[in-house]
Amino acid sequence: MEQYAIWGGNPLVGEVEIGGAKNAALPILAASLLTDDTVLIDNLPDIRDINVLLAAMKSIGVVVERLGRHQVKINAAHIYTTAIEGEGIRKMRASYYFLGALLGKYKSASVGLPGGCEIGTRAIDQHIKGFKALGAKVRLEHGMIITEAIDLTGAHIFLDVVSVGATINLMMAAVLAEGLTVIENVAKEPHVVDVANFLNSMGANIKGAGTDVIRIRGVKSLHGSEYTVIPDQIEAGTFMMAAAITKGDVTVKNIIPKHLECISAKLKEIGCEVQDSDDAVRVVASRVLHGTQVKTMPYPGFPTDMQPQISVTLGLAEGTSIVRESIFENRFRYLEELGKMGANVTIEGNVAILEGVKKYEGASISATDLRAGAALVLAALAAEGFSTVDHIHYIERGYEDFPEKLNGLGGHIKRVTNAEELKRARLKVV
Ligand code: EPZ
Repeated sequence: MEQYAIWGGNPLVGEVEIGGAKNAALPILAASLLTDDTVLIDNLPDIRDINVLLAAMKSIGVVVERLGRHQVKINAAHIYTTAIEGEGIRKMRASYYFLGALLGKYKSASVGLPGGCEIGTRAIDQHIKGFKALGAKVRLEHGMIITEAIDLTGAHIFLDVVSVGATINLMMAAVLAEGLTVIENVAKEPHVVDVANFLNSMGANIKGAGTDVIRIRGVKSLHGSEYTVIPDQIEAGTFMMAAAITKGDVTVKNIIPKHLECISAKLKEIGCEVQDSDDAVRVVASRVLHGTQVKTMPYPGFPTDMQPQISVTLGLAEGTSIVRESIFENRFRYLEELGKMGANVTIEGNVAILEGVKKYEGASISATDLRAGAALVLAALAAEGFSTVDHIHYIERGYEDFPEKLNGLGGHIKRVTNAEELKRARLKVV
């Protein structure tokens, strides 16, 4: 019984430090397998998904040395198998990054079919199409994806959908391939650029990351590197939204404001004040917020990973808001939970219509996936009274010290593991 026990109603005020980006760090760790030299990665978030990925790397012979909570040294010179299995890794989506990295280096990889948050079909046909274009054979056997090649040769690949995972996976598979690979209609997310920068820091020749077309000229081998992961756009956005929903004043530090423009723009539109500085952004919500329309889009559009956080905020904004989810088809499940807190929501296919209510009320709710879980915690912090959020393992996949950081801003949230702790939290006994 692991839950967050939350007393709501306090505006969140103060400063919070943002950690390294989960969705950059995961592929960067996998990409470190592409060299026999030692790689040092800094600003690694200390979250469950990262720790599961590191354990999977150890299980195939990678030497993983944790130098501190956020720093790790990796040496993959003595990998003894290219098959990655195990319960933990099967539950996470990012396991597919081992396919690109191991195929690129050893021309062979076999990984359990990827799991991850249940937010939609989450196909990997574009990854497979790209591997095949580079000359690999791909087959499914006993729940494993197996890919092998004699040689990998550069190719022209046009992605049918803009996919973060396929873009990164194909970059990793192509860096050591013979000749030029051109990938069109690629994802432009900051984490895609970060992985390309990391690979280039190891001696790869990748151009165009951050645009629609990436060109990769294959090199013979990659060397060691020391690299710092970019700040997490979505963790930052979540705390920006925490200021808005609780009518607070939060300065989010250690971020890249450019990556947050789509979120800042929406917050301004609904009535927040947003001030950028070099590596921080301050969100002040002192006025009445009003509703708006949001459509999730690949970067630089509004991120699907911020859709639940803005929806819970809009549920308290004056008037009608319309939220259209255009990336994943099953990302509104949390709205039923929000309904238990008093939200007025109608779902029509991939559109949520929110009629703003004056307040949420404390309730017992369940996290339905990572970002939805974080959004429901924000709703509980804004709500009147006491809430519990369970299935917090989802939240812990991607947020480091989430309760501690929220409490640092004046929130009242406690992680409880048994009935006695829950009782004490409800009575506000420390
Ligand atoms: C990554 O997932 C992130 N995960 C997700 O983060 C994020 O929501 C998503 O990108 C979009 O930004 C990781 O980085 C580990 P996609 P990914 O491939 O790579 C379709 C979080 O909360 N598609 O960009 O799985 C797919 O079904 C999470 O941190 C295909 O059709 O996303 C979806 O509709 C959850 N075929 C769309 O493309 C493919 O081969 C975008 O998916 C690949 C994708």
